[in-house]
Amino acid sequence: MLWGSRFEKGLDNEAMAFSSSLYFDINLFEEDIEGSIAHAKMLAKVGIIQSHEAEKICSGLFKIKEAYVKGNWNPDPLKFEDIHSAIESELTNLIGDVAGKLHSGRSRNDQITTAVKLWLKKKSDKVFESQIKLQKVLLNIAKNHTETIMPGYTHLQRAQPISFAFHLLAYIEMLERDKKRILFAKEATDISALGSGAIAGSTLPLDREFTAKILGFKSVGNNAMDSISERDFLLDFLNACNLGMMHLSRLTEELINWSSKEWGFIKIGDQYTTGSSLMPQKKNPDMAELIRGKSGRVFGNYISLLTTMKGLPLSYNRDLQEDKEPVFDSARAYLDSLNIMAGMMGTINVNADRFKKELEGDFSLATDLADWLVLKGIPFRESHHIVGKVVNLAEDKNKKLNDLTIDDLKSINTIFDKSALKCFEISTALQRKVTYGSPNPKLVSGQIENWELKLSN
Ligand code: ARG
Repeated sequence: MLWGSRFEKGLDNEAMAFSSSLYFDINLFEEDIEGSIAHAKMLAKVGIIQSHEAEKICSGLFKIKEAYVKGNWNPDPLKFEDIHSAIESELTNLIGDVAGKLHSGRSRNDQITTAVKLWLKKKSDKVFESQIKLQKVLLNIAKNHTETIMPGYTHLQRAQPISFAFHLLAYIEMLERDKKRILFAKEATDISALGSGAIAGSTLPLDREFTAKILGFKSVGNNAMDSISERDFLLDFLNACNLGMMHLSRLTEELINWSSKEWGFIKIGDQYTTGSSLMPQKKNPDMAELIRGKSGRVFGNYISLLTTMKGLPLSYNRDLQEDKEPVFDSARAYLDSLNIMAGMMGTINVNADRFKKELEGDFSLATDLADWLVLKGIPFRESHHIVGKVVNLAEDKNKKLNDLTIDDLKSINTIFDKSALKCFEISTALQRKVTYGSPNPKLVSGQIENWELKLSN
C-alpha cells in the first residue's frame, strides 16, 4: 500500500475490488515503467538521489518488465489499486528500500497522466498508419474504375451518374480529415505532465525539461493543476475516433448494399464474409456489419468521458480513473476497424459493367438535358420545367430517355435539335462534366495522381 500509515484498517475487500483499476491499467505497464525510468534518471541528474541508486531502480524496473513480458509476474487486482502501486511494490521486493526514493517529487496524478499520454502517442501513430493504409487500398481500387459508371444517389434516389473511382475518392477525402483529427489529438497529448506532482509542482528542483526530452514530449505543461487534471487530449482522441468510425460505418453501409442481390455491384471476398447456419445460399457481410455496429460503442465512449469530466472541480478526482477504459476501447475498435476495412476492401470484386446498360438513357441524365437548354439561353427554372415534361412523356410512354425521338422532344419544345439526344448517352456522361471536383475521368485521374504523390511521402 502506498499510503497506509495513518489508516488503522485496510480497505474493505469489496471496496478494493470496486476501486482497483489494475485490470485495465495493466495496459499502461510499459509506459509506466518508461515514465519511472525517466523520472529516476532525472532525480539522479539533479542530485536528489545518487546515480547508483538510479541505476538500481532502473535495473529493477527492467527486471519487472522482463518478468511481466515472460508471464512470470502477474499482479493481483485485489491487492493493488493500480498498475503504479503494483510496480512500486514489486520494485521494493526486488531492490529494497531504495525503491522508495523513486516517488520523490512525483504523485500518481502526474505519473498516470504521463503513462496515458505515452500510450496514446504510440496508439495515435498506429491509427495514423492504418488510416494511410486504408487510403492506399481505396486508391488502388479507384485507379481501375475511373470509367466504371454507377448511379450517384441523393436521398437514396438515383441522382446523377458517377464513377466508382469518384465514389471511393470521397472516402479518401474523409480519411484525410480523419488523419488531421488524429494528428491534432496527438499534438494535444504531446505536452509533459511529469513534474507537476499532485497539483502544485514540487519544492524539489525537478528538471521537467529533462524528463520531457527523454520521454519524447514536445513541451512541458505550463500549469501543474491543469496538467494533472485535464483530459482534453483524450476527448480529442475519442472524437477523432468518433468521426473516423462514422465514416467507416457509412462505407460499410454501402458495401452491404452493393453486395446485395438487388445491387449486385460488388462481391466481398470469402475471407471477410460468413455463411448462415440455416440458409445454405447465404454469404453475409458480417465484418462490415460489425464495423457499423462498433461505431455505437465508440460514440458512447466519447459521451461517457465527457460526462465524467463535466462538473469535476479542479484538480484530480478519483472519477478520472474512469478515463481509461473508454479510450482503450475506442482505440481498439477504431484501429481494428480500419485494418479490417483495408483487408476487406482488398478482396472486393467489382462488377464494372453492372450499370452500363441500365443507365443508358436513365432519368438520372435529365439534369444534363436541362444544362443543354441553359446553354441555349433558357433560364434554368424554365429548363427544369421543360425537362420535367420530357421525363413525364417518357414515363407515359413507358420508355427510357434515349428511346425518345427528336420529334418527341420537339413536341415539348421546338428549341430541341438532334444534339440534345447526346445528353442521354451514358458513355459520355462523365466526360461531359467539366467542373473541378466532378467525376470527369480526366479530373478523377488527376486526383488519383495527386493522392498517389501525397500518400507516397
Ligand atoms: N488509478 C488512478 C487513476 O487512474 C491513479 C491515480 C490515483 N491518484 C490518487 N490521488 N488517488 O486515476
